[in-house]
Amino acid sequence: MRRLVAETSFTVDDLVAPLFVLEGTDEPVPISSMPGHFQHSIPSLLTEAKKLVSLGIPALVVFGVPRRKDPVGSEAWSPDGVAQVALSELRASLGDEAVVIADLCLDEYTDHGHCGVLDDHGRVDNDATLELYGRVATAQASAGAHVVAPSGMMDGQVEAIRASLDASGHRDVAILAYAAKYASSFYGPFREAVDVTIVGGGDRRGYQQDPSNSREALAEVDLDVAEGADMVMVKPALAYLDVIAKAANRVDVPVLAYQVSGEYSMVQAAAQRGWIDADAAATEQLTAIKRAGARAVLTYFAGRMAEILGDG
Ligand code: PBG
Repeated sequence: MRRLVAETSFTVDDLVAPLFVLEGTDEPVPISSMPGHFQHSIPSLLTEAKKLVSLGIPALVVFGVPRRKDPVGSEAWSPDGVAQVALSELRASLGDEAVVIADLCLDEYTDHGHCGVLDDHGRVDNDATLELYGRVATAQASAGAHVVAPSGMMDGQVEAIRASLDASGHRDVAILAYAAKYASSFYGPFREAVDVTIVGGGDRRGYQQDPSNSREALAEVDLDVAEGADMVMVKPALAYLDVIAKAANRVDVPVLAYQVSGEYSMVQAAAQRGWIDADAAATEQLTAIKRAGARAVLTYFAGRMAEILGDG
């Protein structure tokens, strides 16, 4: 009876699995703040990706962790940058079996840890960054990304990336825009995963959304759709279920949500102490995110959820 009347069902088709790849490592490096996750080597990335796809997961999102960082983040668009190598290896191995998404940002690649380049006063220069995002998009598309996912929250980024992709012959590469991305404490473990520290104890409140507000987040969603986003995303997920619901009611492109590192690690930490059941908590949270209106969820529980759903 419960199955018959359930309003929401979470399936393997709703999962997008984030993966980290570290340049120049032979062995995968465990991420201590994200139990079960690694900074992968290229071979371990391919093994993990194949496993996730064989479990039925339809999409992966790749984050590169370079060895060399500089003020402009040039490894982000270098043809032999770690993300580009990983993307082309993934496509060679998976073909079109799964959607290969490239996170598109500079923070993993800049020595100051901001998502864009800095001006003479040390402030993020929005418009100078757009040109670099265009280069990154083209490099990722050339390496084989089906989708690029700009996460830097610069104004005009979707339009700039669409123009760059079209001009470089990648008209069929889609854009998943991190449209409503909040300046959140829940990204903490991710910064270890990608070896990012923001210079001078800084933060991203100048370009990410304020947790007090949903209206400006919806304005960001509208802008991204108008600029050509094929899908939009709300991030983090659980603290912003209202924003997911409003976005899903407002626009006709698919709305995705990102259950971020801190959301994952809180569940794992409590479960390790025996305080909650991780599988049950993950299932409940992901169902809630979908109930709110997310078409799919980027989640570090993807592999485990696919196993649970497969056993169901
Ligand atoms: C920025 C980016 C971040 C995340 C994804 N892309 C971090 C940030 O904005 O500081 C966070 C993801 C997570 O916490 O799981 N490139």
